[in-house]
Amino acid sequence: MDRNALFDATDPIVIFHRWMKEAAASEPNDPNAVALATATADSRPSVRMVLVKQVDERGFCFYTNAESRKGAELAANPHAALCFHWKSLRRQVRVEGPVVELPPTDADAYFHSRSRTSQLGSAVSQQSRPLESREVLEEMIDACDRSHPEEVPRPSWWKGYAVQPEQVELWVDGEHRLHDRFLFIRENGGWKKQRLFP
Ligand SMILES: Cc1cc2nc3c(=O)[nH]c(=O)nc-3n(C[C@H](O)[C@H](O)[C@H](O)COP(=O)(O)O)c2cc1C
Repeated sequence: MDRNALFDATDPIVIFHRWMKEAAASEPNDPNAVALATATADSRPSVRMVLVKQVDERGFCFYTNAESRKGAELAANPHAALCFHWKSLRRQVRVEGPVVELPPTDADAYFHSRSRTSQLGSAVSQQSRPLESREVLEEMIDACDRSHPEEVPRPSWWKGYAVQPEQVELWVDGEHRLHDRFLFIRENGGWKKQRLFP
């Protein structure tokens, strides 16, 4: 493998898309799964997995419940860090930057692209808040199913967010821990590229 060729672009997003394509072919599931770190206004961090649904000019886009723990943290402190780890490729991508909400039309389109059961589940889930039992959840789903025989409306609190990349680090495992790391920092509309010690 030509290790330098792996990092051969001035734009880290170009490399990211290339790596994601390879991960899609080699990962057993969810190559788009990413650890999303948020923090409270007083800087206490928390982390969980989400699925990145698009990576485009708006940033790294994911969807969630705005009233969840992560949603509350993003409302108080609209910054996040992401970490992809593709075990099959032994590669890591870290992304950091401010977070913006996606337009409701995007949330509508993605919400309705999912299975009806997923839509019902998202519509009734008071994500991150206490739930008495699984039966209660299942009853809520049945009730929502009955009250919306046609389309399940997207709740206003089910939203899309984009992490706008200010920093991207691309990492490739090396023998004897001699990994390759490149940090890209947004500068004057372009990217400054810097190799880092492992
Ligand atoms: C692989 C994977 C993908 C997930 N994708 C999402 C997602 O896209 N959106 C989401 O709200 N939760 C997703 N979850 C669930 C979250 O990890 C988490 O449990 C939930 O969002 C509540 O997090 P919070 O309490 O920190 O807000 C995913 C979990 C896993 C393991």
